Amino acid sequence: MAERVLVVGGAGYIGSHCVRALVSAGKDVVVFDDLSTGHAAAVEVPLIRGDVRDHGALRTALALSRPDAVMHFAAKALVGESVAHPVRYFDTNVGGTAALALTMLEAGVRRLVFSSTCAVYGQPERCPLDERQDKRPLSPYGQSKRMAEEVLEGARAQEGLQVAILRYFNAAGAMPDGSLGESHQPETHLIPLAIDAALGRRPPLRLFGEDYPTPDGTCVRDYVHVLDLASAHIACLQRLMDGDAGDAWNVGTGRGSSNREVLSAVERATGAAVPVIPEGRRAGDPAELWADPQRLCAELGWRPAFADLNDIVSTAARWARSPRF
Ligand SMILES: NC(=O)c1ccc[n+]([C@@H]2O[C@H](COP(=O)([O-])OP(=O)(O)OC[C@H]3O[C@@H](n4cnc5c(N)ncnc54)[C@H](O)[C@@H]3O)[C@@H](O)[C@H]2O)c1
Repeated sequence: MAERVLVVGGAGYIGSHCVRALVSAGKDVVVFDDLSTGHAAAVEVPLIRGDVRDHGALRTALALSRPDAVMHFAAKALVGESVAHPVRYFDTNVGGTAALALTMLEAGVRRLVFSSTCAVYGQPERCPLDERQDKRPLSPYGQSKRMAEEVLEGARAQEGLQVAILRYFNAAGAMPDGSLGESHQPETHLIPLAIDAALGRRPPLRLFGEDYPTPDGTCVRDYVHVLDLASAHIACLQRLMDGDAGDAWNVGTGRGSSNREVLSAVERATGAAVPVIPEGRRAGDPAELWADPQRLCAELGWRPAFADLNDIVSTAARWARSPRF
């Protein structure tokens, strides 16, 4: 029988691509989402509307979907907003995760894949960044994700919840056929902002800092295709289904790209120059942040299918030319 998966936050950018990949892999999928930042049009499986902080709504969703496993993407995920409204971030990201873990345990659902972030590390000691480095998150967003991890680590150690934690680096790209992609309001991610600036749909791109100690002076990040995040989730699901207790893994390509390299890739993909307004450094932005994905590769057999930045950016550009929502 097909495994049943409840995807919490499955109407959002990464969650909706994971739903597509799960359906393609033959899984039976139900989405739970409050549509606060997600899109009903992104969901082609049954959608239960509800808030991850609402125990009653979660109990109903678990009873209706009777999942073998849950994937939890629902969160507030804007670093700047988290600085202005930290309590909202702890409420949704920590409170919501605790509510989900508790109701899963009550319902006897014991497998969870959790969306975490490289922001839990804060300023990296060195790059590539591996899982052993200290976790000293700089923003309330990163702190809330680390606290959610701790809630789940406790549930794993003491209450028998099998938990796979995936710490994503910069999610990017879209379905290669243009049928699904990223649509955030407000948009804060470099690639969609640069594409829209090149297409003349947004003001010029604000480029934060050109004096970092990096080869071209701009920040270096690790862009991982959203379908490669999806394949990491499916590998975790398999591992939990096989009885593993779970662990935490970084998900990135292991290759850093500078902001300037991203802008060049956007110019190749769109055929248009990206207008730029140079700005000073943004507080708290590390010069370099790129992953060591060695453990994910060795332990879960994961390989990024989109290893080249140009391939990632061209899928994003295809979506951006005619977004469905
Ligand atoms: N986008 C990235 O580069 C990135 C990087 C690292 C980690 N992450 C993490 O990945 C996850 C997904 O990110 P995304 O970019 O797809 O974000 P997103 O905002 O597109 O998706 C989040 C989804 O969760 C839903 N949601 C939010 N609050 C909810 C609540 N209280 N109850 C029910 N549903 C709720 C939203 O409606 C949305 O559909 C988040 O947990 C985020 O922290 C994202």
